[in-house]
Amino acid sequence: MSARHFLSLMDFSPLELSGLIRRAIELKDLRQRGVLFEPLKSRVLGMIFEKASTRTRLSFEAGMIQLGGQAIFLSPRDTQLGRGEPIGDTAIVMSSMLDVVMIRTYAHSNLTEFAAHSSVPVINGLSDDLHPCQLLADMQTFEEARGSIKGKTVAWVGDGNNMCNTYLEAAVQFDFQLRIACPEGYEPKAEFLKAAGDRVRIVRDPKEAVAGAHLVSTDVWTSMGQEEESAKRLKLFAPYQVNRALLDAADPSVIFLHCLPAHRGEEISEDLLDDPRSLAWQQAENRLHAQKALMEVLVAPGCRPA
Ligand code: CP
Ligand code: NVA
Repeated sequence: MSARHFLSLMDFSPLELSGLIRRAIELKDLRQRGVLFEPLKSRVLGMIFEKASTRTRLSFEAGMIQLGGQAIFLSPRDTQLGRGEPIGDTAIVMSSMLDVVMIRTYAHSNLTEFAAHSSVPVINGLSDDLHPCQLLADMQTFEEARGSIKGKTVAWVGDGNNMCNTYLEAAVQFDFQLRIACPEGYEPKAEFLKAAGDRVRIVRDPKEAVAGAHLVSTDVWTSMGQEEESAKRLKLFAPYQVNRALLDAADPSVIFLHCLPAHRGEEISEDLLDDPRSLAWQQAENRLHAQKALMEVLVAPGCRPA
């Protein structure tokens, strides 16, 4: 199948990714100025959610409507996917009726299998391995606040999960240094670590990770699908909470990002989202603009407002 997919940040070149971020900032400005821009009229996005979502569903659905198209929400519970229809068969049928598909799933192989049988672009809306759409919003937020992230130092504190794996890919594609502070046994996946090479360093002490960092980020200690480990993780990750004192050890220009949902009193202190260094709300809004830029490129490449 010849369609172009966005399953990982590695599916786009560094130049294409920085173009996407610039375009996201332009689309945000158009929306803020009330300019109507509908290059995806009569185009349809299908969204399959195997896991819960607030931001991803809203931003894709609202984004598609704002671009002039429509979005259809599908849950495996209500489709034949939930009754065992093969992913490949589903992909052939769905892609014959839709213009683009977004999938939030467990195993990353579900995405690659769907994409292999899809005649339209497939977007990763989060898998157990990666969350590339979130990183588009994160990179846009840094760019808006502090300019280029190239050559800067980023600290990831907490679980080496799907977000952490995606920060590893971002370190390669956006060219920054990444320090990861995590408990032993909770490192990111080896394949992503290896691909990041000397751009990444793993440490155990959160203070060492954030020293001089320009961006600090974290995520929940228990990701979707790991709920039965929650009690064990609460204890183990307690020394990895990001709070104001930890941010004080970073560069004075540091910003804090969290993909949300956040658990106050766990991975962040009660007051962290109220700290002026936190740009988490801006980051959440940027999901909308970044994914509009992505859908524009995948569905209507070369389309620009008059
Ligand atoms: N950050 C993020 O993907 O949020 P949702 O789970 O609400 O979509
Ligand atoms: N790591 C989290 C991210 C949620 C947006 C999860 O997978 O549940």
